[in-house]
Amino acid sequence: MSKSNGVKKRATKVAKTQSQSLWGGRFAENPAELLQKYSESVSFDWRLYRHDIRGSIAHARMLQKIKVLTAGEFKAIEAGLLQIEKEISEGKFVWCVDREDVHMNIEATLTSRVPAGAKLHTARSRNDQVATDVRLWVRDQISQNLHAIRFLQKTLVAWGQKDLQVIIPGFTHLQRAQPVLLAHHLLAYVEMLDRDAGRLIDAQKRMNFLPLGSGAIAGSTIALDREFVAQQLGFEGITRNSMDAVSDRDFVVEYLSAVALCGVHLSRLSEDLILWSSAEFGWIRLSDAFTTGSSLMPQKKNPDVAELCRGKSGRLIGNLVSLLVLLKGLPMTYNRDLQEDKERLFDSADTLQMSLEIMAAMLQQVEVHGAKCREAASDPLLLATDLADYLVNKGVPFRHAHEIVGRAVALAEKLKVPLNQLEMAEWKNLSPHFGSDIQNVFQLENALKRRPMVGAPNPKRVEQEIQRWNKRLS
Ligand code: ARG
Repeated sequence: MSKSNGVKKRATKVAKTQSQSLWGGRFAENPAELLQKYSESVSFDWRLYRHDIRGSIAHARMLQKIKVLTAGEFKAIEAGLLQIEKEISEGKFVWCVDREDVHMNIEATLTSRVPAGAKLHTARSRNDQVATDVRLWVRDQISQNLHAIRFLQKTLVAWGQKDLQVIIPGFTHLQRAQPVLLAHHLLAYVEMLDRDAGRLIDAQKRMNFLPLGSGAIAGSTIALDREFVAQQLGFEGITRNSMDAVSDRDFVVEYLSAVALCGVHLSRLSEDLILWSSAEFGWIRLSDAFTTGSSLMPQKKNPDVAELCRGKSGRLIGNLVSLLVLLKGLPMTYNRDLQEDKERLFDSADTLQMSLEIMAAMLQQVEVHGAKCREAASDPLLLATDLADYLVNKGVPFRHAHEIVGRAVALAEKLKVPLNQLEMAEWKNLSPHFGSDIQNVFQLENALKRRPMVGAPNPKRVEQEIQRWNKRLS
């Protein structure tokens, strides 16, 4: 081998190492193209860019404070990062798949423009960086979700208020059970959504601690001021164990779990709307803007939004389960598997947000067919329990009263008459306690008014609840 050949070889090696500067001096060869394709995350984690940049600026400011950066270097880094943020938001930034993820793309571009950028990653690893970015992202996302939940709650309350006099049968086992106000039924969803909001707020509080400064796994030999970074980023404090901090995705699990449950609630609401808008029920009309037709059957008007919302809740559950399975076998601490959290996270966040928004928009335009509801609620059998209560009020033990009314129902069925049309002699025959005041029991409005307790569908109570929600949600 000639001398010049050897020089050439060395030159080739240097060039390769430089082109592989991404991983530093350790690597002599570029990653296989397949590996790049398989492992890149920038095609989806680019969405973290604002939070990545916020985190980097806070870290850099701290590095200046502890004199790793000069004031001039910090200024240049900050300006460079803000410029990159602007370019990304305007769609002008060039993302490189061979830079793997959002973190490396931003840092590499910064460093190519600002020499001091090479100091930004001091005492930082992508492990604590990504843990920080994702916390910031989820924290913001929760605020958006909460906004949408509140709006949907308001929409449901407004609907209840608009149709306050409408009575429907409430169901158990999807069999008519007892009459309730439609508003009472709607407020049940307002309660569910309120617990959903509570769970999101809890999760938001619990995740609000800064992982940055944990390094790859074991902190850093450089004396960082973690509290200073936490303050800048609005964290309540700092994480207390570097190994936990870089491997913890509990906060994503909590978020996905709260999202999945909220999705389940929306799915149940959807199911009610689908039933109510069917010809069999005919209680409500969904506006044309939120329904679709059939390509074959000209008469069809389908509640697709509600059906999709019901269907999408499956995705939310799936994403939660995916993440739990992803985490369950991981040894401490960071493992690349964790990169797989993001698509699940983004998908759930987007899906829930859209479902909340479209549900509210659709419900703002819903029309109620009061007469149809009334007809369904007017079945006297719905007041069989009230009839038993009537006997209880006359001193009959409830179990006996239940038995007597059961026999009355069977008799009415045998005679093929509605329960309220048995004759006085027949009532008396069933129990001497029945009197002429029995017809009061069958007055629908009275039946609701007779229920005095908090939590019952008494019109006064429901109105109070509506006022309470209006106040709480304003
Ligand atoms: N793209 C990676 C992720 O989302 C960033 C962290 C990579 N860390 C590492 N040690 N390879 O998880």
